[in-house]
Amino acid sequence: MRGYLVAIFLSAVFLYYVLHCILWGTNIYWVPPVEMKRRNKIQPCLAKPAFASLLRFHQFHPFLCAADFKKIASLYGSDKFDLPYGIRTSAEYFRLALSKLQSCDLFDEFDNVPCKKCVVVGNGGVLKNKTLGEKIDSYDVIIRMNNGPVLGHEEEVGRRTTFRLFYPESVFSDPNHNDPNTTAILTAFKPLDLKWLWEVLTGGKINTNGFWKKPALNLIYKPYQIRILDPFIIRMAAYELLHFPKVFPKNQKPKHPTTGIIAITLAFHICHEVHLAGFKYNFSDLKSPLHYYGNATMSLMNKNAYHNVTAEQLFLKDILEKNFVINLTED
Ligand SMILES: *[C@@H]1O[C@H](CO)[C@@H](O)[C@H](O)[C@H]1NC(C)=O
Ligand SMILES: *[C@@H]1O[C@H](CO)[C@@H](O)[C@H](O)[C@H]1NC(C)=O
Ligand SMILES: *[C@@H]1O[C@H](CO)[C@@H](O)[C@H](O)[C@H]1NC(C)=O
Ligand SMILES: *[C@@H]1O[C@H](CO)[C@@H](O)[C@H](O)[C@H]1NC(C)=O
Ligand SMILES: *[C@@H]1O[C@H](CO)[C@@H](O)[C@H](O)[C@H]1NC(C)=O
Ligand SMILES: *[C@@H]1O[C@H](CO)[C@@H](O)[C@H](O)[C@H]1NC(C)=O
Repeated sequence: MRGYLVAIFLSAVFLYYVLHCILWGTNIYWVPPVEMKRRNKIQPCLAKPAFASLLRFHQFHPFLCAADFKKIASLYGSDKFDLPYGIRTSAEYFRLALSKLQSCDLFDEFDNVPCKKCVVVGNGGVLKNKTLGEKIDSYDVIIRMNNGPVLGHEEEVGRRTTFRLFYPESVFSDPNHNDPNTTAILTAFKPLDLKWLWEVLTGGKINTNGFWKKPALNLIYKPYQIRILDPFIIRMAAYELLHFPKVFPKNQKPKHPTTGIIAITLAFHICHEVHLAGFKYNFSDLKSPLHYYGNATMSLMNKNAYHNVTAEQLFLKDILEKNFVINLTED
């Protein structure tokens, strides 16, 4: 009798898996079930997003959890890459930083929207003089990045922030910019970024050597608000979406994705529909504003050794043409 039930149960599981694969059109490689140390009661969204073809895993949890990050890293191959694409040689830094966090949940426990409509708000000057604030605030999930302010720019960019990606050199240090409803996501590019997070959360002395710009000396976010992005997401952005080579010629600095493209990659993994605002990559007018805040101009971005702007332009053009995303800043 018991064997019977087990057999029925197993075939049901198998059938579900096959149906799931057909539904999503995924390559059938078997991914062992992941023991979730997360309180995720969200119903999976069964509708297939337009950009699904770009993804390798459709229910990838984007934040690292202290309890199982090493296991997840070996499962997804992140133990074979160094930062910013994996945890190899930095696992101890990850462990230290994660030990200071209180949660690795994606959405809060009252969340019950299975299919999320998201907007990724870039910091581009194209947002100037466009009154998109109300429109942006109407999305389920609003993803912003770095120190793109909401304060004083509500008409242009809205008030709500669900997620904000940051790194030590780009994070706000003025507490007026903290919104308690925001989840702040550390995008670690180097081991020092994790060490910095540990130091600011421990309250010890902060070593500011080795950063390309002075990092924040205090963190306006509380531990419950902070997550660490799984480097798998950055690796997907670089290799699958931007098609960066795995090895750069010796005379060239390796290129890495901008936070904007990383934010879009994150959105692809957690949203059902993705719209973009504030993304513009046209450098023909070097005097036009780079951001919707401050006075920087396009000329600043043009000479960037760390990013490949051409590859990002091509990627954005491609996903817009395929209608995978919608450009909200379109005139
Ligand atoms: C925005 O509007 C102001 C006032 O109407 C104008 O002076 C400014 O040039 C505009 N900026 C852009 C980027 O269009
Ligand atoms: C935070 O969320 C609560 C509950 O949804 C809401 O009442 C409050 O206005 C939000 N605060 C901000 C600053 O958005
Ligand atoms: C960039 O903008 C200029 C003028 O603003 C326009 O002539 C040119 O076609 C644009 N380039 C691209 C690639 O969109
Ligand atoms: C931008 O320029 C204006 C006028 O030149 C100046 O008043 C303002 O302080 C500058 N803002 C920043 C953030 O530098
Ligand atoms: C940037 O990306 C483009 C398009 O993928 C490629 O042709 C070019 O060689 C890359 N440039 C650098 C400096 O990596
Ligand atoms: C979105 O539309 C605006 C206005 O036409 C344009 O300037 C901007 O380059 C577009 N963004 C992208 C990523 O194509």
